[in-house]
Amino acid sequence: MGRMSTTAEAPRGIAAEAIEKRFAARGRARKRGEGVRAVDDVSLTVAPGEIVGLVGESGCGKSTLSRILIGIETPSAGRVLLDGEPVDGRDGWRRLRRRVQYVFQDPYGSLCPTMTIGETLTDALAVNDLGGSTAGRRELAGEMLARVGLSAADLDRRPSQFSGGQRQRIGLARALILEPEVIVCDEIVSGLDVSVQASILNLLRELRQRLGVGLLFISHDLRVVRYLCDRVVVMYLGRIVEQGSVEEVFGAPAHPYTQGLLASVPDHMPGAPELRAHVAGEPATLSGRPQGCPFAPRCPQAAERCRSVDPPFVALGAGDHRARCLFPEPPR
Ligand SMILES: Nc1ncnc2c1ncn2[C@@H]1O[C@H](COP(=O)(O)OP(=O)(O)OP(=O)(O)O)[C@@H](O)[C@H]1O
Ligand SMILES: [Mg+2]
Repeated sequence: MGRMSTTAEAPRGIAAEAIEKRFAARGRARKRGEGVRAVDDVSLTVAPGEIVGLVGESGCGKSTLSRILIGIETPSAGRVLLDGEPVDGRDGWRRLRRRVQYVFQDPYGSLCPTMTIGETLTDALAVNDLGGSTAGRRELAGEMLARVGLSAADLDRRPSQFSGGQRQRIGLARALILEPEVIVCDEIVSGLDVSVQASILNLLRELRQRLGVGLLFISHDLRVVRYLCDRVVVMYLGRIVEQGSVEEVFGAPAHPYTQGLLASVPDHMPGAPELRAHVAGEPATLSGRPQGCPFAPRCPQAAERCRSVDPPFVALGAGDHRARCLFPEPPR
């Protein structure tokens, strides 16, 4: 590992390029032939060594996008790129599934209860024809457990013998053992005690630092994103409505939706109960997307034009800060 590259040839890492994902609607809307666009024209990149936060209310398409990026769901339109190359064909998707690993919220559901941790880790290597001999694989598995703060002695234990936080560490070990460029972490600290959350977040920082792995970190908790991430991407109804560095987006949020999310987060960190992002009003459903700006029906600043004109994704300032709003707040 330690693959941080300083050369600027092909862009390293994983990229979504104008990704769209449509699903058939459920119930009556389905009979009318309606569909939902769970992900709508989303482009983003995660480079090795970079931590990108992905935030937005429940149902905005975060997990759908991440399932596409790890190659377990196919996009309806757009492309996934790995190290600048479009992912294509059986070999391409297989390569992607090795280079981009994932950890989900509930590792208990994804760790086989009857297998020991050692079996789970060495299996991941064997399936990918890595690690050489059986003994070599077991040694690597032990090293990986040590990397995530467990020990080789844990190899012969089963998932039920670990706490929630420890199981997330095991999930990380299983992802890391394949030496991915990027790991997608979907709500991996939600539901853990604050102190356990903090220890996992510090582990993620260390792994990024030591191994140069990139992370796409999906979370409802904006405080956690602010603490951990370099860049942040805000989604609303399947679309990116704002993105930029953590300093830009948290310091000078330009989109009224981001402003609403941030206004509901208290400044104090320690001991505070987990706060879910909250913006007044119900999000429109994906199938019943209004004309004009999708956020206009809930937007405290919406003007007449917002109800008819779909806003472009405008650049703000010199960096990567962008917002999809007709009247973005100028950077302060
Ligand atoms: N297989 C599917 N068939 C139909 N609709 C789906 C399917 N998977 C997801 N959806 C819909 O796509 C939208 C986005 O769902 P997704 O799970 O990506 O949201 P999310 O942002 O991850 O939400 P959460 O924060 O609750 O995890 C939702 O409206 C969901 O109902
Ligand atoms: Mg999700």
